[in-house]
Amino acid sequence: MKAMLDARGIRSGYSGVTVIKGLDLSVGPEVFAVLGANGAGKSTLLATLARLIPLTAGELWFDGQDISHAPPWVSAARGIGYVPQEKGLFPDLTVLENLYVGAMIGERARDERLAEVVELFPDIGARRHQLAGTLSGGESRMVACARALMQDPRLLLLDEPTAGLSPLYVDNFFDRIRDIHRNQNVSIVLAEQNATKALEVADRVMVLTLGEASEVMDASSVTTEILKEGYQI
Ligand SMILES: Nc1ncnc2c1ncn2[C@@H]1O[C@H](COP(=O)(O)OP(=O)(O)OP(=O)(O)O)[C@@H](O)[C@H]1O
Ligand SMILES: [Mg+2]
Repeated sequence: MKAMLDARGIRSGYSGVTVIKGLDLSVGPEVFAVLGANGAGKSTLLATLARLIPLTAGELWFDGQDISHAPPWVSAARGIGYVPQEKGLFPDLTVLENLYVGAMIGERARDERLAEVVELFPDIGARRHQLAGTLSGGESRMVACARALMQDPRLLLLDEPTAGLSPLYVDNFFDRIRDIHRNQNVSIVLAEQNATKALEVADRVMVLTLGEASEVMDASSVTTEILKEGYQI
């Protein structure tokens, strides 16, 4: 498998606190799930991969290029889309304006991309003129994901896209994740608490425990015992 994203011995964290403690990760054309308990470092890892948190050690390569010290707009322009755990939208812009911000990256006509994301998330179409700050939690998550897709990414980093949302919404969103991967040929790194749902959609899985990673496993081989150990329960 040819890796698209390659992290080698990366360390990162916050002013003096190391959260990610020397982690190796290789992501190819797949859905790669990062599981782990609250505080394990999932969001820190994804923000590091998106280049929002600096590396204090190690290297990060994307598509054969060293992006270890690239700023986030460079990694975005190279094809890394990022949907943070919090809403990640401009609240005072409309849904459509938020989506157009995403389309500032990439070459294709923005209306072509808009048609694709509206097909993926039909609810967005009806709300295109609504201010993003007035959307419900689930609607915000869809628009944030759609905004990242408007960048025509080749790798999408999704940080707990369904946290706190109703079961019907969760099922629908996981189906969309599968569609994005299969139909739009986008690799996905998915940070998740919801191990059951993540294992349904993921090809490979890693469990983070306090910033340290388990072996990478095929999703089909993950057992309850492995999860209990990783989640320290
Ligand atoms: N801005 C920050 N400054 C200092 N410490 C932080 C900051 N953000 C996160 N941390 C700490 O880093 C550790 C990892 O947090 P992180 O948000 O990456 O975990 P997580 O796995 O995403 O958890 P959750 O499932 O609750 O979202 C935690 O101990 C947290 O307190
Ligand atoms: Mg998190």
